[in-house]
Amino acid sequence: MNSRTQVGIVGAGPAGLLLSHLLHRAGIDSVVLESRSRDDVEGTIRAGVLEQGTVDLLKATGVGERLQQEGFRHEGIYLRFDGEDHRIDFPALTNGKAVTVYAQHEVIKDLVKARIDSGSDIRFQVSSVTVHDVQSEQPSIRYRDESGTSHEISCDFVAGCDGTQGVCRPSIPAGVLTAYEKIYPFGWFGILCEAPPSSDELIYALHDRGFALVSTRSPTVQRMYCQVGPADRVDNWSDEVDPADRADNWSDDRIWEEFRLRLATADGWVPKEGRIFHKVIVGMRSFVTEPMQFGRLFLAGDAAHVVPPTGAKGLNLAVADVRLLGEALIEQYRTGRNETLDAYSATALKRIWKAQRFSWWMTSMLHRFPGGDAFQYRVQLAELEYVTGSTVAAAALAENYVGLPFQ
Ligand code: FAD
Ligand code: DHB
Repeated sequence: MNSRTQVGIVGAGPAGLLLSHLLHRAGIDSVVLESRSRDDVEGTIRAGVLEQGTVDLLKATGVGERLQQEGFRHEGIYLRFDGEDHRIDFPALTNGKAVTVYAQHEVIKDLVKARIDSGSDIRFQVSSVTVHDVQSEQPSIRYRDESGTSHEISCDFVAGCDGTQGVCRPSIPAGVLTAYEKIYPFGWFGILCEAPPSSDELIYALHDRGFALVSTRSPTVQRMYCQVGPADRVDNWSDEVDPADRADNWSDDRIWEEFRLRLATADGWVPKEGRIFHKVIVGMRSFVTEPMQFGRLFLAGDAAHVVPPTGAKGLNLAVADVRLLGEALIEQYRTGRNETLDAYSATALKRIWKAQRFSWWMTSMLHRFPGGDAFQYRVQLAELEYVTGSTVAAAALAENYVGLPFQ
């Protein structure tokens, strides 16, 4: 079965859905193809921290209503080391900016609802997606629907928003892209639990036993992470690993004991415990592919780059990419001029590399490295002392955490 659209979008994550939304607002038609079901897409637990610019964009484009009601504005974070908290005050250091804690799957629900309410075309549970003729003026995407029927969509442009495991990036011929990658020798063990918040703001902790992070989701659900590995590593290190085969290593008692140890303070702080109902191990890597374009195929979000989660940047980078790509496509349709679209990759990569630097730096400062010696650990503590003791150093952290300006 053949059909046509202006922009064919592969992937209904934050990148693909938001791009479709931005294009729709400018009267540009798109089709979003997603391999998973709507329930799966809306139920996957991932990020939680939205930069100021991400929040402003979602609000300004009419998908920020629930975010405004249910999200939590956080005006700082605590860096905890040597058993003491040091607060980074975002508004004071960034001219009034802050972040909002609102789960990624809630953003996804808001975007899917907006797309469906406006009658747009999202096709879930598709398979065998392939992209064709992206170097011509008339690219196409082929796929099978849930019943196995083959389809072909011809379009003007293809947006590869299909994450780390997608098909768009691998469809680009060998030799076109350059990949830059760094794999960290540890991961994060993440939990969700039923408990009241342990802290009014996120706590990023460095302890002799490794990193720990206290985050939140709601007054009754909390999100916490701790550094694991390399013993807990799996050989096939993907970005999200089901920890079921290592559940024995991580009983609930062991998880709480580890959090209590790593988060201990001189005045006896302990996390509020509750039933753990979700566990995940997340791999840690930095990855960038250049350029983010091949002919009329444009990559955005995790399909083009991955950050370790310590800087809370992945979702926000996906948003920044499609904001730029959306504007460039809109300009192309309105004026017929390609300059902004041709500059998409170079423009996006400038900000992406800065977010990569920040994520790598936060990761390096806050984790114990296997084989890392006492000297390295003392330098990390000195860096934390410096960052929390110097207004300019604290401002550099704050400015990056709340999000650098869009281009
Ligand atoms: P994805 O969300 O991966 O979406 C891609 C979509 O494409 C998926 O729905 C997938 O099913 C679909 N797809 C894949 N292949 C195909 C195919 N062949 N055909 C059709 N569809 C396909 N980021 C932050 O900014 N802040 C945080 O606090 C944060 N915390 C995180 C915590 C965890 C535990 C994890 C795992 C990630 C975290 N991130 C965070 C990163 C963030 O979740 C990702 O960067 C973000 O999801 C990227 O969005 P995306 O749309 O590019 O890709
Ligand atoms: C969360 C995730 C992060 O990667 C981070 O740096 C802070 C918070 C979260 O899931 O809440």
